[in-house]
Amino acid sequence: MPKSDFSGNFFSITKYYSKDQLLALSSAVEIYKKKTKRSSVLFEKSKKLHVNGVSHNIRFFDPYPFVTKSAKGKILVDIDGNRYTDYWMGHWSLILGHAAPQVSGPVRKQVSSCWMHGTVNENTINFSEIIQKAVPVAEKIRYVSSGTEATMYAVRIARAHTRKKIIAKIDGGWHGYTTDLLKSVNYPFEKPESAGLIDDSHIISLPFNDITASIQILQRVRDNLAGVIIEPVLGGGGCIPATKEYMIEIQQFVHSINSLFILDEIVTGFRFRYGCLYPTMNLDPDIVTLGKIVGGGFPIGVICGKDEIMRIIDTSTRGRDDRSYVGGGTFSANPMTMTSGRAMLEHLKKHSVSVYKKIGALGEKARKGLVKSFDGKAVVTGIGSLFMPHFLANGITEVKNASDASMCDTKLLQRYHFEMIAKDSIFFLPGKLGAISYVHTDSDIKDLIEASSRFAGQLNQ
Ligand SMILES: Cc1ncc(COP(=O)(O)O)c(C=O)c1O
Repeated sequence: MPKSDFSGNFFSITKYYSKDQLLALSSAVEIYKKKTKRSSVLFEKSKKLHVNGVSHNIRFFDPYPFVTKSAKGKILVDIDGNRYTDYWMGHWSLILGHAAPQVSGPVRKQVSSCWMHGTVNENTINFSEIIQKAVPVAEKIRYVSSGTEATMYAVRIARAHTRKKIIAKIDGGWHGYTTDLLKSVNYPFEKPESAGLIDDSHIISLPFNDITASIQILQRVRDNLAGVIIEPVLGGGGCIPATKEYMIEIQQFVHSINSLFILDEIVTGFRFRYGCLYPTMNLDPDIVTLGKIVGGGFPIGVICGKDEIMRIIDTSTRGRDDRSYVGGGTFSANPMTMTSGRAMLEHLKKHSVSVYKKIGALGEKARKGLVKSFDGKAVVTGIGSLFMPHFLANGITEVKNASDASMCDTKLLQRYHFEMIAKDSIFFLPGKLGAISYVHTDSDIKDLIEASSRFAGQLNQ
């Protein structure tokens, strides 16, 4: 059975496909190799310097990933000069496209002044005022340099605040590589994700969108539950929106036992509207983590929380016994990120109607078009500008959670993405969801649907 696999190794697929299908794939590999000769040589060098040639596991795909030279707007250019229409968009962070002038102008100005000082700065205050207005839970804010750090600290705050130990997450929920949350990410969810994780007994996992089963699990640990952390749209787990009812009931339960409800909006924050997704679900989270889009393409993680909760990290009023020790790090709130983030949010605020209307409509068009292209062979999940096809297999007919997504043919999804890279110069990180940015157009979606129809036609052979 195909398994969801964050490492992205997919050339074991020879086991899965018919001779004709393998022929199509090998022709895609040949086309790819021919057009990415310089990437091939340079990636060999990269492998001598970096483990598996990469600095993030998911960036590897077989036979080797192309090496990017530059990026502008919707286009990624590799060192062989191939131009790809990009739907990966910097781990989905570049909602205005690559090197957006709205961000690069202010960033250039800032870099000509200074880019790092490690002291309190006005840029941070200006940026935080903007976040606070857009995200009501952000009564207090702490910046870090990645989403992983933000979720790591959010969990620590919940444990310190409640003086309880257990954190519940979701099967397939991805919150970064933090030791605490590296559990039940990949199918089969009960299998450890990694060697070297010392104690994961204080992390439990819930089946997404299944309220009865989730509450039963939570009931069992109610006396020691510090909090629940959830993405409103399961991102890495398959681009699957939570139902409003599920989120509300989980929140109600968590609050009824005085535990914390933590929303990870690192993907969803400023993705569908100016602000977070949670107000549209009538939710009242205690902590929200942000990242990706809010950094304007520069490294960021943000912990936003209610004042009464965040005050536990105040080292000026609390000692070791009653504080949660939360840092920020050398590069937290650095002037470059604060400037790029502010430029991004100011632009999104000013143009929120046009940006979100356009990318939402293109997303809708992509989902509908892909469903038609795949003609019953795949379902397409997503919302707004995010979308992801799942090729049906193993009796799965709909995808409501990460388990359903993992039972689908994930190898075929990777092959589909790879063939588009090779044959159509359309780039998705193989196996990952696609994100539409403001720079994409109707004709890009048309091209995507046509390429997908050609791929689907091949499946019938
Ligand atoms: C929902 C979610 N949380 C946290 C993270 C981790 O963020 P980062 O990669 O910036 O550490 C990610 C990254 O993809 C994510 O999708």
